Amino acid sequence: MKTSYNFLHKSVLLKESIFYLDIEEKKKGIWVDATLGLGGHSKEILKRIKEDSKVIGIDCDEESLKIAISILKDFKNFIPVKGNFKSIDVILKQLDINEIDGILYDLGVSSMHLEKAERGFSFLKEGRLDMRLDKDTELTAFDIVNYYKESEIAQIIKEFGEERYYKRIAHEIVKSRPINTTKELLEVIKKVKKIKEKINPATRVFQALRIAVNNELENLKVSIEKSIKLLKKGGRIVIISFHSLEDRIIKNFFNKESKDCICENKKLPCVCGHKKTINVLTEKPVVPMADEIKENPRARSAKLRAAEKII
Ligand SMILES: C[S@@+](CC[C@H](N)C(=O)[O-])C[C@H]1O[C@@H](n2cnc3c(N)ncnc32)[C@H](O)[C@@H]1O
Repeated sequence: MKTSYNFLHKSVLLKESIFYLDIEEKKKGIWVDATLGLGGHSKEILKRIKEDSKVIGIDCDEESLKIAISILKDFKNFIPVKGNFKSIDVILKQLDINEIDGILYDLGVSSMHLEKAERGFSFLKEGRLDMRLDKDTELTAFDIVNYYKESEIAQIIKEFGEERYYKRIAHEIVKSRPINTTKELLEVIKKVKKIKEKINPATRVFQALRIAVNNELENLKVSIEKSIKLLKKGGRIVIISFHSLEDRIIKNFFNKESKDCICENKKLPCVCGHKKTINVLTEKPVVPMADEIKENPRARSAKLRAAEKII
């Protein structure tokens, strides 16, 4: 998809998402694209659904939303919303929607975010350290790097980046302040990580900062709990994630929701009273085929998990 911003955007696991959302079978209903981005997945849903059906496309990033609106302007049954998917319940209530047929999450940032240097997401482009998906929020990567305590930075890099050298990198960051730009931060990290790895030495630290700035893991946990409640019986939830921290949250959540009893001690009578709400449709995560990865290297770490609401 060529956008008005003149960069190439390819939606990840597109056919697989449509298949697991069960669009071709149902065709009529209300679907939510919780991470609208540049509208790639929404467009494919909109092409397939009946006139009296709807796609609600949510994005917390104004810039992405504007592009998606212009791309999808010909679809009458597309409803764009600027919002955070952690408030999915409130967003749908405001639209007078109580239940939905399916919801898709394609997590993280889009190619646009990485391409635009001034958004500060990419260590390959010189830009001020920002990393906010939603520019209406206050905390930026600059704030964390320049004002947080060394121990707090170390904790973020350890927990959200799973970076082995978290202590030394945090120390070097504090020593090198002020750090204004993505490239300056890259140089600081390189001072600590001199050994060659398969990935860029800054990948894990940048991931960690982005997760912290946007509160990504907490938002995901909160949102999927709410989504399951909003799904109709037979409704589908499809989630594409890009790193193990996200995938673990989704896997654990699906495991919990697909069991009747979640008591720790299975030998004693059940006290939790938990009831199974979903059937997991993907025993193992679905990953992109070699062709897709060749065409779109960003897809290489994608994992799709899907489930169906049963009550
Ligand atoms: C990978 S992109 C989605 C790409 C889209 N599926 C497509 O095909 O064009 C992820 C999008 O989700 C948005 N996003 C991330 N976290 C969000 C959240 N908590 N609430 C709303 N939107 C979010 C980002 O701004 C980004 O535009």
